[in-house]
Amino acid sequence: MSREFLKMVNDADEKTLMMSLRDCHANAVDSIVVKNNNGILTRAFIAWGPHKLWMNKPEIKDYTVGIHDHKYPLSLRLLKGSVRNMVYEETYCGDRFSEFEFKSIITNKELVDVYELVRRDVHLGIKKAEDLKHDKWLHMTSNELHTIWASPGPAAWLVQEGMREKRTSRLFQTEKTLDFKDLYQPFSSREEIIQVVESFFS
Ligand SMILES: [Fe+2]
Repeated sequence: MSREFLKMVNDADEKTLMMSLRDCHANAVDSIVVKNNNGILTRAFIAWGPHKLWMNKPEIKDYTVGIHDHKYPLSLRLLKGSVRNMVYEETYCGDRFSEFEFKSIITNKELVDVYELVRRDVHLGIKKAEDLKHDKWLHMTSNELHTIWASPGPAAWLVQEGMREKRTSRLFQTEKTLDFKDLYQPFSSREEIIQVVESFFS
C-alpha cells in the first residue's frame, strides 16, 4: 500500500502536490495531497516519530487533534504504523468540550476558513474505536464525530474525501480558544515533497 501511495505522489501534478502542508492540524503531522478532483481531495496524513496523536484518547484527553466532523463523507485506509479511528457521540456522562464551527467564506476573492465558538459545554464520549487496515477502506459519514489515534512513532493513513454535503464543520476541543500558531506550513517544491515522502516510507 505504501508503494501504491508513492506512485500516487510521483504521478500527482505539481499544483495538486503543492496543496500539501507540513504540520497540518498538529505538529509533526504532514498532509500530502495527491489528487484534486474538482475540490474533492485524496491525501495522506504522515505522522513523524515525535507526533502526539497517541494522546488522542479519553484516558489522556490531550487532544492534539480535536474531535470533529467534516463537510463530506470520507474513507480511511492504513499506510503505516497503527492507526485507530475514534468515533464520539454526545452523551451526558462524557467529557466536557467547547464546540467551534468552521465555515469557508470568500473575502477579497480569496477563499478562507473562519471559525467561532458556538458552545462551551458539550459532553462527548467514545462511541466506537476501529483500527485502520491496509487492505480495506473504513467509511465515515460527514456527520460522524471523530479523531485519529496513532501509536507512538511513525504512522500514516490515506484519506479519500467524498462529495461536499455541508457548508460548515465542527471541532470540539478541551480548550476554549484555538491556537494554530506554527501549523499549516507549505512545502517549497514538488521535489521536496517527493523526497520527504520517500524518506518517510523508506
Ligand atoms: Fe477528520
